[in-house]
Amino acid sequence: MNTRPTDNAFARIDAVSAEMQGKIIDYLDVVAGHPEMQRVRTAASAIFAPSEGERLLDAGCGAGEVARELGAQVGGTGAVFAVDRSQQAVAVAQARHDGGPVTYLAGDVTALDFPDDQFDGVRCERVMQHLADPDAAITELARVTRPGGRVCVIDTDWASSVGDGFDHLDEVVSSFFTGHSAATAGRSVRSRMVRSGLRETSVLPVTLRFLSPADAEVVAPIFSRALMREHLSEELFDRFFSSVDRSADRGDFLYAFTMWISLGHVALT
Ligand SMILES: C[S@@+](CC[C@H](N)C(=O)[O-])C[C@H]1O[C@@H](n2cnc3c(N)ncnc32)[C@H](O)[C@@H]1O
Repeated sequence: MNTRPTDNAFARIDAVSAEMQGKIIDYLDVVAGHPEMQRVRTAASAIFAPSEGERLLDAGCGAGEVARELGAQVGGTGAVFAVDRSQQAVAVAQARHDGGPVTYLAGDVTALDFPDDQFDGVRCERVMQHLADPDAAITELARVTRPGGRVCVIDTDWASSVGDGFDHLDEVVSSFFTGHSAATAGRSVRSRMVRSGLRETSVLPVTLRFLSPADAEVVAPIFSRALMREHLSEELFDRFFSSVDRSADRGDFLYAFTMWISLGHVALT
């Protein structure tokens, strides 16, 4: 039995079983707590730079912990909207509400139910990799941001995966992410921002590193045996995980991938 949500499950959380929905929320919590992911979020927070009194949006908010942090940063004179396509994610985020100035709503990042120029800043973390049309999402994030406001998008780039101490990583990455925009989601955000008319774009790549397969599995789906058993050929599965196991036994396992924090500004009119 697979104990980890598939990547597709994040595109449509409400369409999977109640049991899998619970696993998805648990998984989001575990990933959010991983020190390497916290390093990414700390860097993203410094770049997004929320300040008191601002009106902000967290698009694809998941369980809402970042929205709650934003709520504390904007304070009582500000406002944060936390939107997710999944009613289940919104219900969990709402249940964890801590009394800050955060409003939780169901909504689609590619068709947001907000008028133009609504927000001083918009952030969107690990959502692009699950979308069929990331360009539509970036255009929509820019639309709801006021002139001079900023859009910050944080996403994963699985094709940046590198390893040492074990073999067959490239084959596994390309097998699992075949035809999947997730493979290059992170690196492609800046060009999407430029195409959507955002100005003064900047990027910060942050490389996450893991020194054991068990640690890597927390964040990287390709190290989940349960998930990979469903996606890789038996031959590649055996070849890959035997190599990973030998590396773990020797203590020389190393895996890293890059997440990209991209920032763009809406032109002043
Ligand atoms: C990997 S989770 C990341 C959640 C959160 N941003 C975080 O960093 O913990 C991806 C989230 O994107 C949401 N999502 C997927 N497609 C979406 C869409 N079209 N519009 C809004 N949210 C979407 C999912 O429901 C899920 O909560």
